[in-house]
Amino acid sequence: MLLRLVAALLLLIPASIASAQQPVAWKTGLEAREIERKVDALIGKMTLEEKVGQLHLSGRGEGFDINQVRSGDMGAVMNFVVPAEVLAVQKAVRESRLKIPLIIGLDAVHGFSTYFPLPLGQASSWNPELIEQAAYWTGREASAAGINWTFAPMVDISRDPRWGRALEGAGEDAYLGSVVATARTRGYQRGGVATTPKHFVGYGAVEAGRDYNATWIPTSQLFDLHLPPFKASFETGAMTAMAAFTALNGVPTTAHRGMLTDLLRGRWGFRGFVTSDFGSITELRLHGIARDDAEAARKALLAGIDMDMMSDVYHKHLANEVRVGRVPVKAVDEAVRRVLRVKFHLGLFEKPDVDPATAPSLMQTEAAREVALQAAREGAILLKNADETLPIRDTVKSVAVIGAMAVPEDERVWTDPAGLGRRVITPLPDALRERLPKDVSVSYQPAFTKNCGTAFADKKAAIHAAAASDLIVTMLGEDCEFIGEAASRTKLELPGVQQELLEALVKTGKPVVLVLATARPLILTWASEHVAAILQIFHGGTEGRTAIADILTGRYNPSGRVPMSFPRSVGQIPVYYSQLPSGRPEKPGERYASIFMDERNEPLYPFGYGLSYSRFTYANPRVSASSVRLDGSVEVAVDVTNTGTRDGQEVVQLYIRQPVASLSRPLRELKGFEKVMIRAGETKTVRFKLEASRLGAHDEQGRYVVDPGEVEIYIGGSSRAAAKAQVMLIRS
Ligand code: NOJ
Repeated sequence: MLLRLVAALLLLIPASIASAQQPVAWKTGLEAREIERKVDALIGKMTLEEKVGQLHLSGRGEGFDINQVRSGDMGAVMNFVVPAEVLAVQKAVRESRLKIPLIIGLDAVHGFSTYFPLPLGQASSWNPELIEQAAYWTGREASAAGINWTFAPMVDISRDPRWGRALEGAGEDAYLGSVVATARTRGYQRGGVATTPKHFVGYGAVEAGRDYNATWIPTSQLFDLHLPPFKASFETGAMTAMAAFTALNGVPTTAHRGMLTDLLRGRWGFRGFVTSDFGSITELRLHGIARDDAEAARKALLAGIDMDMMSDVYHKHLANEVRVGRVPVKAVDEAVRRVLRVKFHLGLFEKPDVDPATAPSLMQTEAAREVALQAAREGAILLKNADETLPIRDTVKSVAVIGAMAVPEDERVWTDPAGLGRRVITPLPDALRERLPKDVSVSYQPAFTKNCGTAFADKKAAIHAAAASDLIVTMLGEDCEFIGEAASRTKLELPGVQQELLEALVKTGKPVVLVLATARPLILTWASEHVAAILQIFHGGTEGRTAIADILTGRYNPSGRVPMSFPRSVGQIPVYYSQLPSGRPEKPGERYASIFMDERNEPLYPFGYGLSYSRFTYANPRVSASSVRLDGSVEVAVDVTNTGTRDGQEVVQLYIRQPVASLSRPLRELKGFEKVMIRAGETKTVRFKLEASRLGAHDEQGRYVVDPGEVEIYIGGSSRAAAKAQVMLIRS
């Protein structure tokens, strides 16, 4: 019966839409072999210019020449988002001699038409299924508009909130980062777009958090911290990768043969193609490793960059480099093979063109918005809640909402104006009014001229409204130029005049609930001492303000957890939980210890931390065996009780430490987590499987070592988890 219903529903879907939703996956067996034959046959027919054309990626906008598509000189395009325009390029390529379909790329970073929380905010949910759903809808909407390739997920690990792009990643941890990378890759692919884990590799480690700056990463850290999320993404079927803008240990990654060819293709067996980042091939000149664009093109291709994004140097120089004998045609063929292979595996040769008439009906569907709402709810982190200020109490009869961010015009952080059926976002005051009892008045004052809070519109009116209310809800944070690429900051306080406003609001003596929409952890030290409650959002997307209202009014019990430590001051950075031990650890009264003279060591809010309206206690941490062989596994269990009066979700986290090993090992390492709903008063047993093979580390030669010896296991609701068990790793 159900099957018949599904079949009937499928018949109702126009063919073009149904095909737009084809999940992306590498074909296997016979089909894969057949593809290799087709690729070879096609390469056999191509002129050198047509081959180079397949490696040329250009974007909508000034300078875009559709005639290059018609002549077969462009194999890929980007930044086309309006279905009619996508259709135009699809038609243009069919005028070319070989009619090889275009791969059509876009940064669908946190949504296409429906916007989900920023990736860092999605990661804060610690809910991989939900993160996968958000990526699925992003991919599905994008693919309905004709896009078949997204420049996502960004899987760069970052421990430096000065870096403006921290918002695109999953935070500071390799394990969380890998779980999120898998979820996002799978989701996008199910939605119908090929993925591009980026930026390979190390971009998140730019020195001082200054964008595009050099990275210096020891081999052990490269393998233990930066590479795992990439590996996870490739293992989930990612078909392309993007090289980083940056230089890794002195070698620009755009020309890093060791990473792009030896590791990625050689050791990992990656069969897809690698694109450069935007203009990064020509930038090899500025990195100081190429005299001119021809040399840059040659170095990039020979290192393993298959596609030139927006440098135009493959298109201009590669054919000549082959003709004069500086680049073997085999190297070009190999790059073309990888691009064509992906095009075949994506099914582009059979795929119908986008249908501009039906595409809009697939945007912002109820189902997508439902996921956006849940992702925004689960990604919000309650950092402080003094005296149970939240949820808003019955005694509160007036609420003053302050700050222009509460009433947004838009909620897109990335620059991909989908322009398809964008719906007005519910302003926070309206969402609160809908949820609070009728006798509670909700006023609103923007205070600032713009969302980013760089100038006051009417500070007095804001303070006046605040002073006249029972509760102040102020929505502040980073917006406009303060977020994203090229938005590195050395000061991580609230931008502009926002701190001044916050202090004035606190001075009214009324309780202040600070709702923060930021792109990274800010320094909240002052706020943490003066406001009553802090709810951290990493820009919540289309349903962000509805989710905030749900949390403030208690309709939803917050469950987000910190994915990236919140420093107390900029001088602590990098601050992260998985520090190595020091030979001079902090000791009361000890001067010659690894401490600051003017700041504590710990962050303000550590990794994994987050409050709930419930309370959770942990008991009976236990292991299924006291020892485990290096090739074996052990089950770890713990009983978690919700001792609060509300049902709530807890993120149960498992950390390990090996106190004595051949290498100095971090004080804590996340090895598992589980988000569980626990009813008020209920106890749940949460179990983890811990494979010994996951408990090792890489040495400076890049060798992975699992050492026998004692392993401490900590389970709890943050990286400060206290419940402890232990297991002995043994050789046999
Ligand atoms: C530059 C960014 O580094 C990259 O992540 C993005 O995909 C490209 N621009 C294309 O927009």
